[in-house]
Amino acid sequence: MGLLPASCQPELCEEQGGQPRFHFQSLQLEREMCLASNCALARVNLSLRPRLEDGKASLAIKYQELQEIREACWDKQQRLEAYLENWSPQSALGQLQAKLDASEAESERAVELLGLPEDRPCLLLDVGCGSGLSGDYISDEGHYWIGMDISPAMLDVAVEREVEGDLLLADVGHGIPFRPGVFDGCISISAVQWLCNADKKSHSPPKRLYRFFSTLYTALARGSRAVLQLYPENSEQLELITAQAMRAGFTGGMVVDYPNSTKAKKFFLCLFVGTSGTLPKGLGTECADGEEIHQANFTNERMRFRNAKGKSVKKSRDWILEKKERRRRQGKEVRADTKYTGRKRRPRF
Ligand SMILES: C[S@@+](CC[C@H](N)C(=O)[O-])C[C@H]1O[C@@H](n2cnc3c(N)ncnc32)[C@H](O)[C@@H]1O
Repeated sequence: MGLLPASCQPELCEEQGGQPRFHFQSLQLEREMCLASNCALARVNLSLRPRLEDGKASLAIKYQELQEIREACWDKQQRLEAYLENWSPQSALGQLQAKLDASEAESERAVELLGLPEDRPCLLLDVGCGSGLSGDYISDEGHYWIGMDISPAMLDVAVEREVEGDLLLADVGHGIPFRPGVFDGCISISAVQWLCNADKKSHSPPKRLYRFFSTLYTALARGSRAVLQLYPENSEQLELITAQAMRAGFTGGMVVDYPNSTKAKKFFLCLFVGTSGTLPKGLGTECADGEEIHQANFTNERMRFRNAKGKSVKKSRDWILEKKERRRRQGKEVRADTKYTGRKRRPRF
């Protein structure tokens, strides 16, 4: 017999007093009723079980979905953080600085390949000068320059940066509009390969290249060089550019720096005017025969540019002060001028 409800207890007591039978029957009845209601409840319970199981299964699926959403969110957050880190003002500045450094290195190499004389300022042409970054290097080296570019926006930036050189808005595919022999050299950084594109119906890349090279040849002094750093799309472009330069009268050829490095590899088309100088060796290439890098012989014709605008002698105090002033104008950090600025150091023993 199961547990009886508390209400039955007085009847049990009475059982001892003499009328047990009637109470027992009512208890029995109550028990039957309890059993019946238990049974009904169990049935209801059983009927609810499939729904419960279904609910549990769909909860598990929902939980799995939530887990996936959480992981996707976490993944997105990671990517967002990486992106923000890449594009934070700090890293944008870093990337800009790296680009400026690379541009300065290219300009430095191009000017080095020009083989300019050490003792006097020269007048250089910068083809596709853009915002005048190469020009800054040329000015820092104590030379004069004129920049040509097809983009007014780029030249506006150059003007805003108060570059030293003179600027000319022009398409070099139409030719170099200067008097014969006026330049001591020409550099160009990442610009000449654009002449291989036909941006208009009327554009013929071979003709535009030939016009550019033939007029450039005329504008350069005898014995001078043009050093054009370029990014050819393929070997056909390279051949077209070189062929048109040779057709225009240039000698020389391609100097390839770090030919075995995909990142550092650089093409410099070194062109000689009127002399067939020895082509300089590319950086990162073996100099098997111990051959020296030769410089082109410059003719006296170029002497007329010597201090033409009263430019200070290289490495002199005035030259250093001018250079520092230029750098200050460009927003660069420069040490204060003192009485020691530009003073020659005594040799140490
Ligand atoms: C990659 S940018 C290099 C700018 C600059 N030399 C430097 O190193 O910062 C190439 C430049 O070539 C100029 N350019 C492209 N085609 C030109 C053309 N046909 N005549 C003159 N400039 C051109 C562009 O306007 C652009 O400023």
